[in-house]
Amino acid sequence: MGMDEKYPAGNPGMPLIPPRRGLSPGRFLLAVAYLVVVGFIYCFFQQNPNHPLHSHTAHHHAAQQPSAPETVIKMVEPSVRRGLVPLEAHIMSKCPDAKDCLRDLVLPVMQKTLDKVNFTLSFIGRPTEHDDGVACKHGAEECLGNIIELCAQSLYPDPKTYLGFVMCLTKDYRHIPQRGLIEDCALEHAIDFDKLNECATKDDGAYGMGMLRSSVRRTSAAGVTKSCTVRLNEEIYCVRDNGQWKECPHGSSVNDLVIAIEKLYHRRA
Ligand SMILES: *[C@@H]1O[C@H](CO)[C@@H](O)[C@H](O)[C@H]1NC(C)=O
Repeated sequence: MGMDEKYPAGNPGMPLIPPRRGLSPGRFLLAVAYLVVVGFIYCFFQQNPNHPLHSHTAHHHAAQQPSAPETVIKMVEPSVRRGLVPLEAHIMSKCPDAKDCLRDLVLPVMQKTLDKVNFTLSFIGRPTEHDDGVACKHGAEECLGNIIELCAQSLYPDPKTYLGFVMCLTKDYRHIPQRGLIEDCALEHAIDFDKLNECATKDDGAYGMGMLRSSVRRTSAAGVTKSCTVRLNEEIYCVRDNGQWKECPHGSSVNDLVIAIEKLYHRRA
């Protein structure tokens, strides 16, 4: 799925989170609370250039561009020290290509190479300069889905947990970010829904948006524009686009990627 097509400005209304099961009073209260939360996030990155956290975030950006050269940072990077092979998937949470890519390649490969790779899940989007937000191809709901997945990654860094959770959401990507789906997947993967919610709403959503902005910056710095792009050892390994594998000179099968990882791992060790 390419990034070149126009990004929608976001949906006019607030994302709807219809309850999945019977509507008990408790459930209704939770749903209302969630809507408020989503509303906050939505407002934050859609239309709030004068948000009180604006200056804070702007300051943060300035602090992120010090004179320290990239190479210095690279030298102390733990993945290099430990000899783990960097593997990365760049996705959009509501993209069907992400589903195929995670299900058919990334997850089965991770099952076989868990102790040899340092896996990172990154997101594709466009930072918006006027409000410190991010524009997502499938609108505000996708941005929120991306933030929830980034929160899961930061709270549960073990890929067995957060990748399982992300796969669970992605299988049902059309319903991202409905509360029922997130709750079900959290339960299935032993993720604390309240912690996720806390992360996604921290500082009125500025915290999660900051993570999403760093993630989309990381993606564009890598020259990646398509969901899903798999990068191995910091180079593009394979792209899943429009239901097909593309740009996969070393093969798009699970075995091809496992072999490539093992080669790199033994070279590093
Ligand atoms: C894994 O890679 C990320 C960058 O994607 C880096 O920030 C992190 O320190 C690495 N972790 C380990 C344990 O190698």
